[in-house]
Amino acid sequence: MTRGRAAAIVGAFFGLVGLGAAVLGFGWPGASSRAGNGKEPDRIAPGRRIYAERCAACHGAKLEGQPDWQSRRADGRLPAPPHDATGHTWHHPDAQLIELTRKGLTGFLPGYESDMPAFEGVLTEQEIAAVIAFIVSTWPAEIRHLREERLGTTGSRS
Ligand code: HEC
Repeated sequence: MTRGRAAAIVGAFFGLVGLGAAVLGFGWPGASSRAGNGKEPDRIAPGRRIYAERCAACHGAKLEGQPDWQSRRADGRLPAPPHDATGHTWHHPDAQLIELTRKGLTGFLPGYESDMPAFEGVLTEQEIAAVIAFIVSTWPAEIRHLREERLGTTGSRS
């Protein structure tokens, strides 16, 4: 219900190119109101599980990325970058991270060769949003504040 509705609303925004980031600046509908009870917001735990199952093999169990991630391999492709605060994932607004995860890098930048798979059809919109919320939740408060200032994106909660 609320979750489904939130996913539907968020899904609808994807059609409006460029608006996603602005919209996400307000936070996810219904997300913060369910954060309550002093425990992790309820998208973080599922996001962590999805990350472990779908992303950790390349991006690292601790979000540390693959060794030497800034140097292209012999085949011309880049290793998986870290998603922790040492990488540049946090330089992107949530909406862009979600879009990157849906489409993969090749879907995002046609013609670009990359190992980053597209998760559209593999994960639901809700699962993709949850995994990005988990990644954002791992960053120190300073980084999240900096993002908020620079990008106008909150990463879903404070
Ligand atoms: C098969 C390995 C692989 C898996 C699995 C994988 N990725 Fe990636 N990902 C990559 C690689 C490699 C790149 C960098 C690609 C490049 O620049 O060519 C990347 C880049 C990204 C980026 C862009 C980062 C930035 O700073 O620009 C995001 C976001 C991302 N991945 C999210 C995810 C998420 C979320 C998952 C799990 C749902 C995931 N990836 C699973 C290999 C993978």
